[in-house]
Amino acid sequence: MKKRILLVGASGTLGKAVATQLRQQHEVITASRSDAQHPVDLGSDNSVNALLRAIGPVDAIIATTGNVHFGPLTRMSTTQFQQGLQDKLLGQVRLALLGQHHLNDGGSITLTTGILTEQPIAQGANATAVNAGIEGFVRAAALELPRGLRINVVSPSVLQEAWDAYADFFPGFEAVSAARAALAYQRSVDGIANGQVFKVW
Ligand SMILES: NC(=O)c1ccc[n+]([C@@H]2O[C@H](COP(=O)([O-])OP(=O)(O)OC[C@H]3O[C@@H](n4cnc5c(N)ncnc54)[C@H](OP(=O)(O)O)[C@@H]3O)[C@@H](O)[C@H]2O)c1
Repeated sequence: MKKRILLVGASGTLGKAVATQLRQQHEVITASRSDAQHPVDLGSDNSVNALLRAIGPVDAIIATTGNVHFGPLTRMSTTQFQQGLQDKLLGQVRLALLGQHHLNDGGSITLTTGILTEQPIAQGANATAVNAGIEGFVRAAALELPRGLRINVVSPSVLQEAWDAYADFFPGFEAVSAARAALAYQRSVDGIANGQVFKVW
């Protein structure tokens, strides 16, 4: 069945690959802060609600967004730690909390974390904490969602497309292609999984 999918973060390294994968079978509505047709800021309830009202009911909602703070623990301030909490964690959770009411019965939500949840790197304490928070939210939310709604999270390793920028932070890690990570989003949208962390590494 052809589904209507809202993809927030569609212009990013990961989002572009997810859009390409899902467009093969589905209608993908792309959104981000700078999207010409569907601008949205996941930092604002009003902005997210306005987008959801504008596009109408959907069968799936995906977030491939979120910045965290990278920096040494010994110099990390609580203000810096807040950046990841507000941007990546609350931004994705906001989309899920508000978006659940705009999903058709049996619809799904798919969020994004990353390998740092389980395999920390130097300067990555904020990223690991934020990712673990999102995965905890997903595990619990899956048990409460009504109407056959499902929620999952995709956790990719560092992407090949971003390797040049991040290689020094990820010594000995194996990068994966964004196209491979995108398959996990399709499994979440078109499969039956609920409360699952799809690890792509
Ligand atoms: N790159 C990697 O190697 C990698 C590996 C594992 C996990 N991840 C995770 O995957 C996610 C995406 O990473 P990426 O590398 O694809 O990032 P990216 O290239 O920077 O793309 C981020 C996307 O999110 C949108 N966005 C950012 N802030 C937003 C906001 N407040 N509201 C709405 N849209 C917003 C951006 O568009 P606008 O600027 O127009 O808003 C863009 O479309 C992140 O959670 C990251 O931690 C990335």
